[in-house]
Amino acid sequence: MADVQQLELNWIGKGRWPQLEPRILLEERDKSYGSRHTENMLIYGDNLLALKALEQDYAFRVKCIYIDPPYNTGQAFEHYDDGVEHSQWLNLMAPRLHLLHRLLSNDGSIWISIDDDESHYLKVLCDMIFGRQNFVANVVWHKKYTRSNDAKWFSDNHDHILVYAKNKDKWKINKLPRTEKQDKGYSNPDNDPRGVWASGPCHAKTPNAKDIYPITTPSGKTIMPPPGTSWRFSKTKMELLLQENRIYFGAEGNNVPRYKRFLSDVQDGLVPLTLWMKDEVGDNQEAKKEVKAFNAEDVFGTPKPERLIERILTLATNEGDLVLDSFLGSGTTAAAAHKMGRKWIGIELGEHCDTHCLPRLKQVCEGTDQGGISKVLNWKGGGGFRYYRLAPSQERKMNHEIHETHENSWLN
Ligand SMILES: C[S@@+](CC[C@H](N)C(=O)[O-])C[C@H]1O[C@@H](n2cnc3c(N)ncnc32)[C@H](O)[C@@H]1O
Repeated sequence: MADVQQLELNWIGKGRWPQLEPRILLEERDKSYGSRHTENMLIYGDNLLALKALEQDYAFRVKCIYIDPPYNTGQAFEHYDDGVEHSQWLNLMAPRLHLLHRLLSNDGSIWISIDDDESHYLKVLCDMIFGRQNFVANVVWHKKYTRSNDAKWFSDNHDHILVYAKNKDKWKINKLPRTEKQDKGYSNPDNDPRGVWASGPCHAKTPNAKDIYPITTPSGKTIMPPPGTSWRFSKTKMELLLQENRIYFGAEGNNVPRYKRFLSDVQDGLVPLTLWMKDEVGDNQEAKKEVKAFNAEDVFGTPKPERLIERILTLATNEGDLVLDSFLGSGTTAAAAHKMGRKWIGIELGEHCDTHCLPRLKQVCEGTDQGGISKVLNWKGGGGFRYYRLAPSQERKMNHEIHETHENSWLN
C-alpha cells in the first residue's frame, strides 16, 4: 500500500477536469433490435458522459471491462484521430479510468490494449487508479506476422494488454480449455488404471544440495541426478511418488526416472501464458477480414479480432456476466460477448456506432454473422440490444432559456 501512496505521475491539466453534469440515457427504440428482454446496451456518445450516466445503476456491477482506446500513435485514422499531445491523452484516459474503476465489481477485472507509445505511462496511471497491488499481468499480443522493411527502427509486431483486478485477492481467473493437440502428448505405456499421462524430468535445473541422492531403478541400476542438477523432489517425497507408481523408468525399468503427470489431474484446463500468439487468438489482418463483412465500402481501420476478445472473456467471465467496452470501435467486444452468452454494454463516440456497430450487432442477433468466433461456438443467433443516446445537456438548455429571456426583455 505504501508505494501506492508515494506514486505520483504529474502532467499538465491533471485533475483539472470539468465537473460532469449528470445526463440520462435515452433509448432510440427504432434502432434497438431483437428481444426486449435484454440488458445489452449500445450507446452512441462520449464515453465520459455515458460512463457517468451508467454510474448510478452499474457501479460495482461490471465483471469485465475491455478497452482499446486510441493509442496516441500520432496518426489520423479515417474513423478517429490518434494523435494528441501527450498530456491531453492522459487527460482523456484518467477521468475515464476513474469511472471504469467505480463500475467494476469487487471480483472484476479490466483489460486494456495499448502499444509502446503510451503503455508505460498507462501502467503508472493504472497503478495510481487501480492500485499497484492489483496489477495482474502485461500480456503481449502478437498482432502482426509480416515485417515492415520500411520501418525506420523496428517493425513493431506486438501490442500490450494490461490486466488489473479490482481486488486481486478476490479475483479468480478461469483456465483455458485444453486442445486436442495438447492432449496428444498423453499416452499409457504401462496401462496405468489412472489413465493416460505425460512424463516430465525428475531433475531440477537449479540444484538443491540436499536433493542429490541415488535412486535405484527397478532393474537394479543406481542413478544420480545429471551433473550440475539435483532431483526435483526431496528423498521422502520421491519415496512416496515411487510407492504411488508416479515415477517411470521406461519399459525395461532401466532408464532415468521420469515423473508421470496424469491428464485427469490437469483436465480443468490450462493456466494462461502472457505471450499470446496470432495462431491462437488472431491478428490485425484477421480482424480486418472480419469487419469487412459488415462494411466493405468503409472498412474500420483498427479492429481487434474476435478470437482475442474471446480469450479475454474466457479468462475473465462466465456466462451471464456483464462486459463493458467504452471504446467500442467496430463493435468487436459486444459481438464476441453476445455470442458467448455474456451481457454487454458498448459505447462509441464516432458515427461508426451507426454505420458499423449497429449492422454488425443486428447480424449477430439474427445469426447471419457467421464470421469471427460464430462457427466454433455454433452461433445461430438470438437475443437483442437496446440503442441509447445521451439526453441533451440540461445546463445548456437552461443557459439557452436564460439567454432567450434576456433577449426577449429587450423587446419589451
Ligand atoms: C482502437 S478503436 C477500438 C477498436 C475496437 N476494439 C474494435 O475492435 O473495433 C478506438 C475507438 O475509440 C473511440 N473513441 C475515442 N474517444 C472516445 C470517447 N471519448 N468516447 C467514446 N468512444 C471514443 C474511437 O472513435 C474509436 O472507434
